[in-house]
Amino acid sequence: MGKRDSKSSLLSHSEAKVRLLGEYIKRYLNIISNDQYTTKINIHDLFCGGGLYENGGEGSPLVILNEIKNVHFKNVARLNSIIPIDCYFNDIDKQKIYSLQKVIQNRSLFYDEFGAINFSSNDYQDELKELIPLLSGHKKEKFFIFIDPYGYKEFRIKQIKDLISSGNSEVLLWLPIQFMSRFAAKGTPTALTNIIEDLSENNKRIESSISAWEFIKWLKIGFTKYLGTNNFFVDTFTIQKDKNTVFCLFFFSSHIKGFEKMLEAKWNIDTEQGKGWNFRRNQLDLFQQIVKNPFEQNLKEYLKKKRRYNGDLFEFTLRKSFLPKHTNEILSNWQKEGILEVFQSEDQKARIGSFYLSYQYFRDEYKKVYYKLRQ
Ligand SMILES: C[S@@+](CC[C@H](N)C(=O)[O-])C[C@H]1O[C@@H](n2cnc3c(N)ncnc32)[C@H](O)[C@@H]1O
Repeated sequence: MGKRDSKSSLLSHSEAKVRLLGEYIKRYLNIISNDQYTTKINIHDLFCGGGLYENGGEGSPLVILNEIKNVHFKNVARLNSIIPIDCYFNDIDKQKIYSLQKVIQNRSLFYDEFGAINFSSNDYQDELKELIPLLSGHKKEKFFIFIDPYGYKEFRIKQIKDLISSGNSEVLLWLPIQFMSRFAAKGTPTALTNIIEDLSENNKRIESSISAWEFIKWLKIGFTKYLGTNNFFVDTFTIQKDKNTVFCLFFFSSHIKGFEKMLEAKWNIDTEQGKGWNFRRNQLDLFQQIVKNPFEQNLKEYLKKKRRYNGDLFEFTLRKSFLPKHTNEILSNWQKEGILEVFQSEDQKARIGSFYLSYQYFRDEYKKVYYKLRQ
C-alpha cells in the first residue's frame, strides 16, 4: 500500500493504535470522573486528523468522543456526579478540522452537557506553548494529551517532561518505529535524530544493526533515565505489522494509578490477541527443561535483596509492566509450595492468599505486610 493510502485509509496498525487509545480513555474517564477530587477533565488531541477515513475507519477524535459519550450516560444512569470533559482537537490542516467538525455534527457526537469542545489549526509547537503553563495552575483538573504526528523532526523529549511534570497529566505518544527497517541501510532516520540525541547521554551507544525490538527497549530505558524514576512512569505498547515493521506507542504518566490503568488496557488487548499472560508453573520446553517465567525470576531477586513491603511490590510490579493480579498468582503459588510467608508484624502472619497489592494499600497502608522468601 502506498503512502497516500495510509493517510486516507485507517490501516490495521492505526486501528490497533486508536483501539488502545479507546481502551485507555474508557478506564481513565470512568475513574477520574468519579474520584470525587477532579473538577474537570481536559483531553488534548494535538494531531487529530479529520476523524473519519475514506474506508470508514474512525480516527482518534471519534474514538475519544464515543468514550466520552458512553461514560457520560453511564454516570447519568448511575446518578454519579458529572464533571465537565473538555476536548481540544488540533490539526495544522484546516480542511481536516473542517471535516472533523462536520462528522461530529452529523453523528451528534458531542452535547453541550458533556463540557466544551474546541477546534484549532495551529502548529503543535504553538499549542504546547499555551498548554504547558496552564497545567500547573489547574491542579484539580486532569489532562490527557495524545501526540500522533507523521514525523518527529522538531519533537524533543523535554516537551514530554514539561507536559507531565505538573503531576496531573498523562501523555500517549506514537513513535514511527516503522523507519527502523531502514536503520541498517541508511543510518539513523532523520525523524528520530532529535529523540535519539536527547536520550543518548546516559544510554548505551546505539548500533546501526540494532533490531526494532532492541531499539524500543533502548528508547524505554532512555526515556526512563531522562525523566527519572522517582516521579515518572513509562511504558510501551508494540504492534507488529510484519517481520521488519513494528509500531510503538509510548505512555508517560506521573501518577501510578494512571499508569496502572494504562497497563490494564494494554493487557486487555494483548490477552485478546493471545499475547497475554501465561504463567504456568514448571512448564516444560521442547527439551523437557523447566522454563521459568522471567517475571517470576525478577520478583524472586527483588524480594531476596531486602525487606519489601506491599507498597514496594505494587510499584515494582507495575514498573516491570505487569499487573498486581500477575504477582498475586505467583505469590499464591509460592505459598502453596511453602517458600513464601507474609507478615503483618514479627509475630503476626497475614491471612493465606492476602498480599495487599493495590493502589489503595499503596496509598493508605504502604507497609501493611512484608514478604519472606525461602530458597
Ligand atoms: C498521523 S495523522 C493523525 C491521525 C489521527 N490521530 C487519527 O487517529 O486519525 C497526523 C496529523 O498531523 C497533522 N500535522 C502535521 N504537522 C502538524 C503540525 N506541525 N502541527 C499540528 N498538526 C500537524 C496532519 O495534518 C495529520 O492530520
